[in-house]
Amino acid sequence: MTLTFTTEPAVPRPAAERSALLRSPAFGEVFTDHMISIDWQRERGWHDARLHPYGPLVLDPSAQVFHYGQEVFEGMKAYRRPDGTVVTFRPYANAARFNRSAARMAMPALPEDTFVAALELLVSADRAWVPDRPGHSLYLRPFMIATQYTIGFYGPSAAYRFMVIASPAASYFTAGAKPLTVWLSQDYARAAPGGTGEAKCGGNYAGTLVAQAQAREKGCDQVVWLDPVERRFVDEMGTSNLFFVYGRTLVTPELSGTLLAGVTRDSVLALAAELGYRAEEGKVGVEEWRADAESGALTEVFSCGTSSMITPVGSVRSADGDWTVGGGVPGPVTSRLREELTGIQSGTRPDPFGWVHKI
Ligand code: COI
Repeated sequence: MTLTFTTEPAVPRPAAERSALLRSPAFGEVFTDHMISIDWQRERGWHDARLHPYGPLVLDPSAQVFHYGQEVFEGMKAYRRPDGTVVTFRPYANAARFNRSAARMAMPALPEDTFVAALELLVSADRAWVPDRPGHSLYLRPFMIATQYTIGFYGPSAAYRFMVIASPAASYFTAGAKPLTVWLSQDYARAAPGGTGEAKCGGNYAGTLVAQAQAREKGCDQVVWLDPVERRFVDEMGTSNLFFVYGRTLVTPELSGTLLAGVTRDSVLALAAELGYRAEEGKVGVEEWRADAESGALTEVFSCGTSSMITPVGSVRSADGDWTVGGGVPGPVTSRLREELTGIQSGTRPDPFGWVHKI
């Protein structure tokens, strides 16, 4: 059954106020005029799809999400191109991952077409909020919460709400493409085999905040997670995946079940191959990271994710010592991939993959 959305228009923010906010948006601080909600109940399935004014939710304090953490989310962006058109990037890939996360958290699947229709409706209604400055975008946050009112732990919630909110964004890392300094977390683990590491659920992020705070204390931008069993191999970074560049060969940690299958990660693998690099998934040992950086065989490391895009990693700090990669400055492969991917999104280079989705 196809869902029909009802619309309750918001009183838009005055244009002058919106323009001022769009001039230098801080990541995730300001939201557009509307939001999307769709409800699910065990007896009715998905129903009551609506576009309505952005604002606080009214939920009973016993809603299951507050107690047992049943929540999943996505992150994606809409871009305004120089010709004025607005596009998103691989929305069906996010829709598919959303449903994989939902399945792991015992939550219902949302039809992919409904997921994409919800994004299209919100972006169309709040089109004026899509920034036009290079590197800026409208960040879209689809999420689903458990809304059954009970603290009895009887099993998966019998009710959920899917929502989408949108926030104008500059670069996630305030220093733009300046190389990051990362902290190797040896005290904490992010995920375990059989756990929820592959799902994009709030709990995965909550459990890492203490390590992220530790990274900050050590003067680092982000935490890097090692495999939870041997603590020998690199899994991922706090908010993104990692790539290791050996001249013209790129290696990214394989999807072992404990790390997130990033849409940007997948795009970089395909794009790098198209540009003539060798791009592989494999195991990346932390000892090799250090030894290869020190010998010069490892030429660059970069992180990639929706919010942070492609960002060089220049320095590593750990309890066992510190090292730099590629002299701690952005390398040519990182810069090229960043330019090419941005070019596809902004329409300045062709999109042979069909990734761009016009709104
Ligand atoms: C994203 O990159 O879209 C994420 O969801 C990471 C988040 C911590 C900002």
